[in-house]
This record gives sequence, C-alpha cells and structure tokens, in this order.
Amino acid sequence: MPEPFYITTPIYYVNDVPHIGHAYTTIAADVLARWHRLRGEEVFFLTGLDEHGQKVQQAAAKTGISPQEHCDRLTPQFQTLWQKLDVSNDGFIRTTDARHQAVVQRFLQDLHDKQLIYRAEYTGWYCTFDERFWTEKDVDDGRCPDCQRPVEQLSESNYFFRMSQFQQRLLDHLDANPAFIRPESRRNEVLGFLQKPLEDLSISRPKARLSWGIELPFDADYVTYVWFDALVNYVSALEYLPPQPSVDRLWPATVHLVGKDILTTHAVYWSTMLMALEIPLPRTIFAHGWWTVDGEKMSKSRGNVVDPYAVVDQFGADAFRYFLLREIPFGQDGDFSHESFIGRINADLANGLGNLLSRTVTLIQRCCQGMVPAPAPSAVTELDTDLQTAAEALIQTTLPQHLQRMEFNRTLEAMWGLVQLGNQYIDKTAPWVLAKDPAEAPRLQTVLFHAAETLRFLCLAAYPFMPQTAEEMARQLGLGLDFSQAPLKSPIVWGGGGPGATVVKGKALFPRVEAVATPSPAKPQPEAAAAPTKDEDSRIGIQDFQKVELKVAKILTAERVPKSNKLLKLQVDLGSEQRQIVAGIGKKYGPEDVVGKTIVVVANLKPAKLMGVESQGMVLAAGDAEVQGLVTFEDQELQPGTKVK
Ligand code: ME8
Ligand code: MG
Repeated sequence: MPEPFYITTPIYYVNDVPHIGHAYTTIAADVLARWHRLRGEEVFFLTGLDEHGQKVQQAAAKTGISPQEHCDRLTPQFQTLWQKLDVSNDGFIRTTDARHQAVVQRFLQDLHDKQLIYRAEYTGWYCTFDERFWTEKDVDDGRCPDCQRPVEQLSESNYFFRMSQFQQRLLDHLDANPAFIRPESRRNEVLGFLQKPLEDLSISRPKARLSWGIELPFDADYVTYVWFDALVNYVSALEYLPPQPSVDRLWPATVHLVGKDILTTHAVYWSTMLMALEIPLPRTIFAHGWWTVDGEKMSKSRGNVVDPYAVVDQFGADAFRYFLLREIPFGQDGDFSHESFIGRINADLANGLGNLLSRTVTLIQRCCQGMVPAPAPSAVTELDTDLQTAAEALIQTTLPQHLQRMEFNRTLEAMWGLVQLGNQYIDKTAPWVLAKDPAEAPRLQTVLFHAAETLRFLCLAAYPFMPQTAEEMARQLGLGLDFSQAPLKSPIVWGGGGPGATVVKGKALFPRVEAVATPSPAKPQPEAAAAPTKDEDSRIGIQDFQKVELKVAKILTAERVPKSNKLLKLQVDLGSEQRQIVAGIGKKYGPEDVVGKTIVVVANLKPAKLMGVESQGMVLAAGDAEVQGLVTFEDQELQPGTKVK
C-alpha cells in the first residue's frame, strides 16, 4: 500500500473575506489532491480557518459582535467560495472546534509536563497588528520591521516554549531531508534564519490583553498564542475530521502548502513543536510566491483586492484555476491583471483547447455520423504516430514528473504543447479535404480517431486543473468517463477510449472574452452573436493589439535620406540588438534633434524599403498627414528593449 497523500493549506484568518491569495493556495492544493485521487491513491485534503487571536477579536469588535459570532458569519464566505471553485477538500477545520481546542490543551500540558514550557518576564517592543514582540535590534525607527506599523514597549509575564533547544536538531533534519523545505530558495532562507541563535517562543497571551483564544490548561489567566493554536490543526484535524481517527494513518503530512509569508512559523515553530511533542515532521513544506495586482501589493486601503467571487462569476472557476497556476511558476511571485487573464482565456482556452475540441467533434459528426471511427492501420503516417507519442509522453511521464515537483505551470505548458500539436495536426491533415474523396476514407477515419484520442488524453490531464472542463470534454467526446473511479489507476493506453463512442456537440468550452476592464456581473452568452454595429466593426480585441510588439528604443545616430526632405535614417538601440529604421519625421525634426532620444518603435514590423533604404521597424509619432510630434520618453532611465503596452 503506498503512503496516503495528506495535503494541507494554511488555515486562513477569518478577520476578512477571502481574496485571490487564499484561492491560490487552495486551488493548488486541490489540483494535487485530484491528481493523486485520479491515480487511485488515498487522499486527505484539509483546509480551514484560524479563528482565534487579536486580528479576529479586533475585527469582531469593529462590527460590535462577539468573536464567535463574527467567525460563524464569515465561515460560509470561505466554504461557499471553495464550492464555487470546485475545491474538493475532505476536511474543513475551525480552530474554535471543541475537539481541536482539546488537542491544543493536551499538547500544551504535555510540553509543560516535560518542562519544555516555562514562565518568564519579558520586556520588548510589541506590534499589535502582528501580535508579536520584537527585539531592540529588530525595531526600525519605532516601527515593526514586518508591517511598518508603530510598536510599543511592553513588559509582561508569559509562558515560553523552549524552542532554542531544538535548533541543532532542526538543522540536522534540514540537512538530512533536502526536500523538507521547498523550493530550494526557501530552504536556504530557513537555513539562513537558523544561522542566528534560535530564541524561545512566547506561547501565551495574558487574558487581560487578549481574551479570544484557547485557555492554557495550567494557567487560567492566559490564552494560547494564536500560532501555537493554529499550527496544531494539521494534526488535531486527523483525530476527528476523517471518517475515523486517522493520525496514525495520515500523519506525517505529505505536504503543507503555504505562502512565503508564513514560512518561518511553519519551518521553525511547527517543526520544533513537533520535535518536542515527539511527533514526526511533515515530509515537505512548500512555500509559494506572492500575488500582486497590476503591479501593486493587494490591500484594502489601495482598494485593489481582487474578489474571487466576482472573477468566478464572470469567467468561471476553470479559467481562474487555469490562469493562477499557468501564469507564474509555483514558488515565484506574480502579477494579476485582467489583461493577461483575458489574454490567456482567449489564446489558450478558447482558441487552443476549446477550438481543438469543437472542430474535432464537428468533423466527427459531419464525416462519421457522430461516431469516433476506427483507425485503418494501413493509413497511419508519421504525423499520427508523432501525435500519439506526444500524448502518451504527457500522461505517462511529463505530468507525473512535473506534478511531483509541483511545477504546475510547466505541466500546463506541456499540456498546451499537445493542444497546439493537435490543432496543427488537424490543419495539416485537413480532414475536410479528405472527406471529399471516398478513396480517402481510411485516412480520414485514422485522422479523426487520432484527434479524438488526443482529446481523451488531454481530458484526463486537464481534470485536476479544470474539473468542469474535463467533465464537459468527456461528455462531448462520448467517453463515459467517471473521474471518481480513479481512471489513471492503471496505465491508460492509446486506443483504449475505443472507436465507437458517440460524440455530442456542446457549447464552446470557453467563450472568447471581448471586453476588458474589471469584472462585472456575468452576461449570458448568446448562442449566435448579434451582428456587430458599425462602431464595433472597426474595433479590435486585445489579442489583435497584443500582436503589435512595441518597444523602447534609443536613437544612436540619425541622418537624412538623400533626396528626401521627409525621411530620416536612424540607427536605434533595441536592447538586444541594433536596428536601422527609416522614419518620415524629417520635416519636423533634423537629425540633431532626435539623437539620444528614447522613443517607441514597432519591433515586429516586416522590413520594407523606403527610397531604396531598408527600414526594420517603425517609430511612433503623432499627426495626420504631417508629423507633429515624436513619441518619446522623458525618462532617460528606461532600458532600450523594454516592452511598451
Ligand atoms: O497567515 N499571494 O492566515 P492568512 C499569495 N492564519 N498567497 C496569498 C496572498 C497573496 N497575495 N495573500 C494570502 C495566516 N495568501 C494564518 C495561517 S496556518 C497554520 C495559519 C495565502 O489569512 C497564502 O497561502 O493571512 C498565505 O500563506 C496565506 O494566504 C495567509 O493567510
Ligand atoms: Mg496574513
């Protein structure tokens, strides 16, 4: 029996509604959970909420309700979102669950009995927002080094966990287990952190200052520090959330997925807590990167927090899931913008996968009475075997390898490599031409069989990422696939989908998105778009605009083109190369006016000759018949080659 796959997300603070950052970690965990279930492995996928502590107490106080009521009101905001996003968690823990609280108290008592918890007076700089003390050297100009808010001097008697005792053991563990902290850069961060002496950890808060927490079992004047409480969830959940208590079966966790903001609490606090409790450490803690929005940090005060509900309502869960995992390598930071999101929906989903499915189904209906034909061995060519090989490699090798390493973006890149190959295959084989010649029937059948089989492989590969899409693909392809029956448990073989399946034409998997701007309530997609108005006719979609490659360039030299009063021959620096561009700006500017200017050029224009002189691009300038001004950047710091968009 292989080890079960136990995956967790952080338990999110219920001080506010969920945003795309929370959705990100949870979706990533869901993809892995679904992937392992597809392969027939036992999976336990846990998420939940962190309900104690100052942040929650303050949020409740603002609304004038009790912390418990506040938590109860906000919990459905998370649960409903996970449903909308097709998150298939097996357990949902709340730290106010009585059974969780009991485990926290048991652990505290255990550590107290082992004298790993002691009481001491502590004076330090306290940050209310982060609920933590800082030492003199940490504090920068009276401000919290983490959140930059003012700190205050506070003296307090508290209980401390002897974390310092476990420093060497933790270093040894990191040494012996290279995959313990991932990615590598985060592992190095933790190793760096452990170069300094590790301090003991304050694990209590006096009730006088904070009452919303789990009472210490050995001192009723204190509640437990929220992080000690929260981290325990990963173990406590197993005592009461699975159908039967499963700590022995499911622990240690296969992977804790977290954001990089909470790496230290997991890699250091949690690990040393477990060592002290004599519980094995999780196999892997993976800390992913941070999302910004339009290049800025997401925050309420900036008003740029992306509401995942609005995104899902407008674009659907699968497009959102796809985008989050496709756009940036897991582990690195990334930026969310509606432009790039819509660009991906149109290019990858509508034109790529959606198109491959719809043309294949249409062709099978039109040419084969709606039934996937059998291939004719005599009509098989290298084009077909290449496609088959690529599909097999995707399912058998690429997917397992990349997902094992949590390289979601590379998994999707590889899948879309096959999508592209599939579309090219149909272009090259041109089944609509074959269909005109009865003598080509064996070839036509072979081609459509290969296209359908490729889509079956893609459908299985898509399922962890885009479950609704995979279900719809299976339905349209007539596959009768039951994803809950672990279809990847045994190797899937080419041809196993079998000829004879009846395809069903359905709606487009992903309608193209024409509008940009921010999410607004979804509009139903009409079956056939109404005729465009005259105005709309001349408009272009973002896709068309994105075809134009605009770049910053610096003019190195300029001279007049002989016998022309209008043309200047420019040599420009494009960052990675130098180009010659002939520009019709000579009536307005002399060569001496433009040398050294930072301008914008169209970098992907086909070369042309103007008055016999080659021009490799075009400069942007304003004016109708006559040029009135050159588009320039005053900011000379801009690097030539920078993209303009
Ligand atoms: O820290 N980009 O909860 P939290 C990427 N309760 N991920 C983001 C993100 C962003 N901009 N913003 C949030 C807590 N996240 C504690 C955890 S665990 C025992 C206790 C995700 O509500 C990311 O996973 O502040 C991050 O680690 C987590 O939300 C923080 O959620
Ligand atoms: Mg946070």
